[in-house]
Amino acid sequence: MLKIINLRCSVQRAVHTRQLVYEGYGNPPEAIQLKSVNIGDKPAADQVLVKWIAAPINPADLNQIQGVYPVKPTLPAVGGNEGFGKVISVGSNVKSVKEGDHVIPNKSGLGTWRELGLHSEADVFSIDNALPLEYAAVFQVNPPTAYRMLKDFIHLKKGDTVVQNGANSAVGKQVIQICRILGIKSVNVVRNRENLEDLVKELKDLGADDVITQEELYGRKKKFPGVKLALNCVGGRSSLFLASLLDHGGCMVTYGGMSKQPVDCPTGPLIFKDISLRGFWMSRWYDVQKTPEKRQEMYKELAEWMKSGEMKKQAFVNNRLEDHARAIEDAQNKHDKKQLFLLD
Ligand SMILES: NC(=O)c1ccc[n+]([C@@H]2O[C@H](COP(=O)([O-])OP(=O)(O)OC[C@H]3O[C@@H](n4cnc5c(N)ncnc54)[C@H](OP(=O)(O)O)[C@@H]3O)[C@@H](O)[C@H]2O)c1
Repeated sequence: MLKIINLRCSVQRAVHTRQLVYEGYGNPPEAIQLKSVNIGDKPAADQVLVKWIAAPINPADLNQIQGVYPVKPTLPAVGGNEGFGKVISVGSNVKSVKEGDHVIPNKSGLGTWRELGLHSEADVFSIDNALPLEYAAVFQVNPPTAYRMLKDFIHLKKGDTVVQNGANSAVGKQVIQICRILGIKSVNVVRNRENLEDLVKELKDLGADDVITQEELYGRKKKFPGVKLALNCVGGRSSLFLASLLDHGGCMVTYGGMSKQPVDCPTGPLIFKDISLRGFWMSRWYDVQKTPEKRQEMYKELAEWMKSGEMKKQAFVNNRLEDHARAIEDAQNKHDKKQLFLLD
């Protein structure tokens, strides 16, 4: 009798979940489709069942669907590399996460644009449950990218100067705030626009010391002494002029290529100031961590800055899964607010 009851308990119940899937590479608004699938409600021994709560649309997600990102999940795949969810149940062998934990993907390619997911234990990483949604949804990529670029390339001291282009990007705003917290000056390059004064005010409110337009950068009218680090997410002409602001021994770290142009570098500073060019990819940093300690240490510091309000909440446009075509289209064309899927 007991055996029969146990057998009944272990039977999978049909649980349908909606997810945004791409079956082949292409233009993201057209390639993505909303599908309903049955995933069952019982995690296997090494699995966790996650109720995803919120997930952003990042440039890397779009590049992945276009087929031009180095992480290529097996197709058909669920879109989205970042987001957070709550663990609903865990398999019998799971040790590193427990029911009720808030989790983020352990690495790129998990597929977060879904309501529910059965994942292996190794695919998720617990975060601070007290982090509000606006921070938790974008905790894995942009704040750590800004953090690592400011910590890992040049030993920056209070009063040193960092320059960056794409300063109004989500990463750029994290860079401004972390610089402010660490006592580092930031010079921020943005593209000109109609409401430039509003943008300058927004970035200065976050802690930017200077905000200049790309045109001012190219005009070389302003000089900034003591620039140790340049952060480049644009490439092309922008990187050429950004690198020319570097002081002796300075370093330009490229982490994005928004202009789709190769990285240009000025010959003079390369020779006479011995500047260096480096690249940074957050996914690679996560991949090479053999133990969780360094990641936990970084998350703890970032979460403290967030919970204390030293790092501000990001502004989002909230979307439901069924709004995917418009949300993805807007993520491609507008960069003032990040598009977010609310999945709960
Ligand atoms: N390497 C890594 O580990 C890593 C991690 C996170 C992000 N990233 C990369 O960092 C970049 C920013 O990501 P995000 O999520 O912060 O993006 P985001 O918030 O969507 O912002 C995009 C930024 O790119 C600028 N931009 C777009 N097209 C441009 C062009 N043709 N020329 C100059 N600027 C242009 C936008 O400026 P406007 O407002 O003027 O349009 C905006 O500042 C992306 O390339 C992303 O892939 C890399």
